[in-house]
Amino acid sequence: MYNSKIKYLEFIMKLFLSFLLITISLYAKYLDSKTCKECHEDIYFEHTKSMHYKSSLFSDEVHRKIKEAVNKDKYSCALCHMPSTKNLAAMIRGTEQPNEKDVRQTDGVSCSYCHQISKVYHSKKYNINISSAKANEKPTMFGNLLNPDDSDKHSAKNNEIYKNSQVCMGCHSHKQNAKGFEVCNTKNQYDKTSDCIGCHMPKSPGGNEKFNKKGRDEYATHNFLGIHSLNMVKKAVKLELLYKDEVLELTINNKMGHSIITHPMRLKFAKTKIKRDSKVIWSNFKESPLEDKEATFIIVFKDDANKTTLPHKAIGYKLDQNLKASSSKVIKYKVPKLQTGDEVITQWISYIINPKISKKLQITKDDIIKPYFGAKESIFIY
Ligand code: HEC
Ligand code: HEC
Ligand code: HEC
Ligand code: HEC
Ligand code: HEC
Repeated sequence: MYNSKIKYLEFIMKLFLSFLLITISLYAKYLDSKTCKECHEDIYFEHTKSMHYKSSLFSDEVHRKIKEAVNKDKYSCALCHMPSTKNLAAMIRGTEQPNEKDVRQTDGVSCSYCHQISKVYHSKKYNINISSAKANEKPTMFGNLLNPDDSDKHSAKNNEIYKNSQVCMGCHSHKQNAKGFEVCNTKNQYDKTSDCIGCHMPKSPGGNEKFNKKGRDEYATHNFLGIHSLNMVKKAVKLELLYKDEVLELTINNKMGHSIITHPMRLKFAKTKIKRDSKVIWSNFKESPLEDKEATFIIVFKDDANKTTLPHKAIGYKLDQNLKASSSKVIKYKVPKLQTGDEVITQWISYIINPKISKKLQITKDDIIKPYFGAKESIFIY
């Protein structure tokens, strides 16, 4: 009788232990972004609206279509677009295919992935994220809080790369294609990292976590707004106009910490016109902004047969119209002699995808194909 009671207790104990072990190992396996919602609710909601959450081929149509055009089987893009997946190597080789039931894959650039980057290894082809994630251990989330509080879900630790923006450079710095040609770059005019966090994670009032035991009055937002945001597009450049003796001078100042074109899908330009009696008497282009290359920012690649091509086959530029971080350029137009009542207007226009490419890829979603109207400047002749 006594014996069986012990056996029973032992059995319960074992059951409990194995339950504990299973939960620990599940826990150590992967903390998906939803698990953070319980405490970091505001940050979670911001994150789920961001392109980081939507970076995988399951949520970003443009990314999926380009990926299919590049390679049907291999998913080398996973390195940055689906970094939390367990079978990264197999996915890159193409021996395993993306699976939409796997939360590690639909999670995109996830909270726990980003917050466990301990170091970024710099290399010529592209940089590599070094992760601190270890199986069967309570995870450490790195950040930049002053005296972070303890939590039963994770420990918190400071790491300077969450302050000097190096943490962004594992994916955003630069990338060479298989031919050794650099197809994108988000570095500044000195080939260095700018203050990404300062511009892309502005502070908002409130605590970072719902109990806010430390009584913090602001937290770093996680929307990571960029070219998909009208407000951000309005901050991209500053335009200035000057008219003298039939010459119109347009100055374009890049206000960002990186070149105007960081990604080859984009098209950005300044449209300038002169209005007299509400009629347009002059404009810098009629149909296509490329009629005025100086005011257009675009990258077009060429392959080894000198034909226009997608980034993965590029060996050089067919067209390279760009402007480095914090730099400006002056464009001079010979225009008709202006008279009292004339108005000169210039406006920044930004396309997430060059309309030529969206037509080819049959992308029709309005948010993605519509123009975003940025900074505007005008002068009136008295
Ligand atoms: C080294 C990391 C890295 C790799 C590898 C990578 N990407 Fe990206 N990708 C990025 C980053 C960072 C951005 C955001 C860049 C920007 O907007 O300037 C991006 C943005 C994009 C976009 C724009 C999405 C949009 O919303 O408009 C497309 C399309 C894209 N990538 C396709 C691919 C494809 C296809 C592959 C694989 C063949 C790939 N990428 C591989 C880092 C990477
Ligand atoms: C049970 C509640 C809870 C959950 C769940 C939770 N956290 Fe936390 N987290 C906290 C607390 C409490 C702090 C400390 C806040 C403070 O000091 O203001 C914190 C702090 C942090 C910090 C700041 C670290 C630093 O040193 O600056 C990061 C990053 C973080 N958590 C990420 C995450 C991520 C990612 C998840 C989901 C995988 C998550 N947390 C889930 C409670 C939680
Ligand atoms: C694990 C890789 C990775 C890391 C680390 C990373 N990003 Fe990203 N980021 C991406 C990818 C991939 C995209 C493009 C997603 C897409 O459009 O499909 C992106 C998109 C963006 C965008 C563009 C949003 C838009 O509107 O197109 C911004 C801004 C951004 N990241 C800023 C940052 C900053 C700031 C950091 C550092 C705090 C950072 N990222 C760290 C991979 C990463
Ligand atoms: C001085 C402010 C500023 C700094 C510093 C800055 N950015 Fe930006 N960034 C912007 C603005 C404004 C936009 C939106 C306008 C646009 O995309 O044309 C933007 C756009 C982006 C985009 C989308 C660009 C595109 O065309 O696809 C990415 C990705 C990005 N930033 C990442 C970064 C990263 C990574 C860093 C740090 C290396 C950084 N930014 C530093 C202001 C800044
Ligand atoms: C692309 C990388 C990236 C992703 C994805 C990301 N974070 Fe962060 N997070 C950062 C960086 C960088 C900081 C430090 C910002 C600062 O100090 O200004 C930060 C700060 C924090 C902090 C501290 C708050 C503060 O005010 O500094 C918490 C908590 C946090 N993140 C939780 C999360 C959670 C939860 C998610 C997902 C819902 C998430 N993060 C997704 C990069 C990321």
